Amino acid sequence: MKLRYKIVNGVVGVIAIATVSLMITLSYTSDCPELPATEPGENKIKAVAHYCYGSSDLLAIEWVDKLVPEEHEVLVKIHRAGVNPLDYHLMRGSPYIMRLARGIGKPERTIMGADFSGVVEAVGEKVTRFKPGDEVFGGSRGTYSEYITIHEDKGITLKPANISFDESAAVAVAAATALQALRDQGQLKAGERVLINGASGGVGTFAVQIAKAMGAEVAGVCSTRNVEMVKSIGASHVFDYKKEDYTQSGEKYDLIVDMVGNHSISKNRDALVPGGRYVIVGGGKGNWIAPLEGLISAMVQAPFVDEELKFFVAKFKQQDFEYLADLMEAGKVKPQIDRHYKLDQIAEAITYSESRRARGKIIIDVN
Ligand SMILES: NC(=O)c1ccc[n+]([C@@H]2O[C@H](COP(=O)([O-])OP(=O)(O)OC[C@H]3O[C@@H](n4cnc5c(N)ncnc54)[C@H](OP(=O)(O)O)[C@@H]3O)[C@@H](O)[C@H]2O)c1
Repeated sequence: MKLRYKIVNGVVGVIAIATVSLMITLSYTSDCPELPATEPGENKIKAVAHYCYGSSDLLAIEWVDKLVPEEHEVLVKIHRAGVNPLDYHLMRGSPYIMRLARGIGKPERTIMGADFSGVVEAVGEKVTRFKPGDEVFGGSRGTYSEYITIHEDKGITLKPANISFDESAAVAVAAATALQALRDQGQLKAGERVLINGASGGVGTFAVQIAKAMGAEVAGVCSTRNVEMVKSIGASHVFDYKKEDYTQSGEKYDLIVDMVGNHSISKNRDALVPGGRYVIVGGGKGNWIAPLEGLISAMVQAPFVDEELKFFVAKFKQQDFEYLADLMEAGKVKPQIDRHYKLDQIAEAITYSESRRARGKIIIDVN
């Protein structure tokens, strides 16, 4: 065999071994440890934790130490927390690629939850933006807990007086994702036509309303039972996916924001005007390729097509929460709440979220 073929074979072999090793490492799941026995007591607070990847019945409701805010931190007594698909992804460590950030084998961070609303109970000595008694909402780690501490400049803002704790707890992940998908990734402009695939879910119900508030003409996609709800929050046309495929309708959009990923990139491009934008927010179920299929396909096609194909991961930004608070205060966006659960019922709440049938947001009543 010629030397260059030997070198190629060697390189291919090394890449194959490295890929298989990475796959084995990422898919490895440690056994669940015996849960620590915790008891209520002075300065103990209730929280939802996980110590291994798996189903919701492995979640632990336990008593942990109440934190003291550092100099730039705010101590928030949580009233409500919002449930997101992020919870079941982190809980299961799936897709496996997430384990690079959450922990290989087992989660490194244990307290779950990302959205909150509540009341400031104490502030660190250098905090200037908040004071005890302020009603706030935002996004942080570990919000399935009776209290969190959060830096005053990160992911916390004042709750408008006309918005409830329930409504504001629905905002952080879902509304920030919708806003960033439409405005930052999608570059949506007033007068444009936008289609929201997955319009009845957590992100979708915000996306329909925010797009409408931005002056766009909005079409939504959902199942029969949600058609009227999606119209009522601002969609001028709704595709019932049980009866009609939006990619085959002949309608063209300047922007498609896709929470579902159930049509190929090529089919979505057919539903865009020349040079239109397609933003991937969510994808299929699975541990490996299915959730990333759209992203991979978009990366491969993007350099060769006129349309812009984008994927992004939303971030908590204080200015975005302030912008969303203004939209809610002005009555332009109203969070759509599906169900409530108690903190002790967290396993049921996440199981319901995992069904992918939520109509708007699921809220946890913490206090
Ligand atoms: N990239 C990011 O940073 C980011 C951030 C947040 C969320 N996400 C991802 O975005 C996705 C959506 O999140 P979410 O919070 O909106 O989820 P969700 O609330 O669980 O979405 C549930 C909704 O999806 C709808 N749906 C299910 N199948 C559908 C289909 N074939 N066509 C149209 N709609 C369908 C359901 O409507 P019907 O009951 O009417 O079928 C239901 O109302 C998830 O995959 C999530 O992981 C990504």
